[in-house]
Amino acid sequence: MKDILKAPFVEEMKKMTANMYRLGWDERNGGNISWMLNEDEVAEYLDIHSIIRTIPIGFEAKALAGKIFIVTGTGKYFKNVMDDPETNLGIFKIADDGCTAELLWGYKDGGKFTSELPAHLMSHMARLSVDLDNRVVMHTHPTYTLAMNYVHELDEKKFTHTLWEMCTECIVVFPDGVGVLPWMLCGTNSIGEATAEKMKEFRLVIWGMHGIYGAGKTLDETFGLIETVEKAAQIYMLTAHLPRINTIKDSEMKELAEYFGVNYRKDFLNL
Ligand code: 13P
Ligand code: ZN
Repeated sequence: MKDILKAPFVEEMKKMTANMYRLGWDERNGGNISWMLNEDEVAEYLDIHSIIRTIPIGFEAKALAGKIFIVTGTGKYFKNVMDDPETNLGIFKIADDGCTAELLWGYKDGGKFTSELPAHLMSHMARLSVDLDNRVVMHTHPTYTLAMNYVHELDEKKFTHTLWEMCTECIVVFPDGVGVLPWMLCGTNSIGEATAEKMKEFRLVIWGMHGIYGAGKTLDETFGLIETVEKAAQIYMLTAHLPRINTIKDSEMKELAEYFGVNYRKDFLNL
């Protein structure tokens, strides 16, 4: 058996959480990541039949039965993952009943997965129903995106349109736009269900006055989506109070989307 602490998926989680912490997006225990792993790859590092303990997940995720995830721990700080991955991360398999997590590694101090597991697993199910390659769900509290929530209407079309206007590449990176949820109580099945509903349509979902969810094939791709939104939100927050002299026109955004061949939300432009 190879050393789990050297597994590429543990290494990537360490680097990603450290990077996000350094960006200032994941204060204290803010943020959480779930990544569906390849069973054969995990089996090189762990006996996937040796269960440390079982943890009820509080809802049914039947469609994910048998799938293995690496997930950040609840109450754990992204800044600490690098030095102690075995306490701050966990790897578990969803049991056949779809309601239990079978812990294979991690949460060493007796901890458990993020309190946002409903939003994560329900989003995985929603994304997999439209994209079989989806593997990652990421939640974080990016500073400018959050700031923008307080001064911009929380309307999907208007919010997406403003973001698209802020950087030329936005419409190419997230042509599907961003879904927006109003403020809701976090850590619940309800916010999980609402997020998953949006995830059928969007790979990015704003949680009003809380943060953002992203979904993608890899950690890099998912981070890249959120990073692009955050950059656009930063430009918005740096310019919103100043007179606007120039802008990217809707006709130019259409030109971009057509040139790069992306399937964009045409109803989010005013043409
Ligand atoms: P956890 O510590 O349970 O992952 O929660 C952090 C968070 O961002 C809640 O939305
Ligand atoms: Zn949060």
